[in-house]
Amino acid sequence: MRVFAVSDLHVDYPLNLAWLQQLSLHDYRHDVLILAGDLSDSLELIAESFEALARRFAHVMYVPGNHDLWVNRDGMRDSFAKLDALQALAGQHGVRMTPLRLGGLALVPLLGWYDYSFGEPSDALKNVWMDYRACVWPSGYDDVAVTGEFTGRNAVAPCQEAEGATTVISFSHFLPRIDLMPDFVPERHRLIYPVLGTSVLETQLRQLGAHFHVYGHSHVNRHVTIDGVTYINNAFGYPSESHFTARQLLCVHTTA
Ligand SMILES: [Fe+2]
Repeated sequence: MRVFAVSDLHVDYPLNLAWLQQLSLHDYRHDVLILAGDLSDSLELIAESFEALARRFAHVMYVPGNHDLWVNRDGMRDSFAKLDALQALAGQHGVRMTPLRLGGLALVPLLGWYDYSFGEPSDALKNVWMDYRACVWPSGYDDVAVTGEFTGRNAVAPCQEAEGATTVISFSHFLPRIDLMPDFVPERHRLIYPVLGTSVLETQLRQLGAHFHVYGHSHVNRHVTIDGVTYINNAFGYPSESHFTARQLLCVHTTA
């Protein structure tokens, strides 16, 4: 059995949706797919994607990204209600958003957001970052509280599925540490670092004893080992990013 990972499919782009729909109906029947967030802000397109992927893989596992939690176009009450709707949709299509144990392998999704543990947002970022307008949170919830709410829902202490596992793969949409961004990123693109993730995720994946951690969101693909954990980003990305994203599934683990 193989474990594949991809994030940031952004199926609002017809090219991206077409890629997903042309995946083999036979090749992945015994495999797992980790979907590390940012399918679409449209529940209809997310449902279409879940349906197509669940037909192709033995197990599809998913965590929502920020785009998936936008409510500006679907009129939902707030982004927590959107999360409830995504969980219901996943359940209907056999897509899993909770930990899974398969023999010696544990797969653990980690909800997240950003709490500015990677830096304070500038005024320029506040002007351009769409989440500030497209997400709605109940009164009293700032981004620190949202991060606390999401990470507080993660099954980490203890995680029954991870106990005694020979391989633990955790995954999140958001980055668990900012040094996953490579040194070559130019200064002007570092504007978004404050909204890339939270160090709470790093604490949680270490508590889990993760061997691998799959993440998305940055659209900067990486495969790097830090202090015994291998971090992997395999973003599909926007069509305009095809010169630096792989735009294919990545096999991150194979069981014997
Ligand atoms: Fe994202």
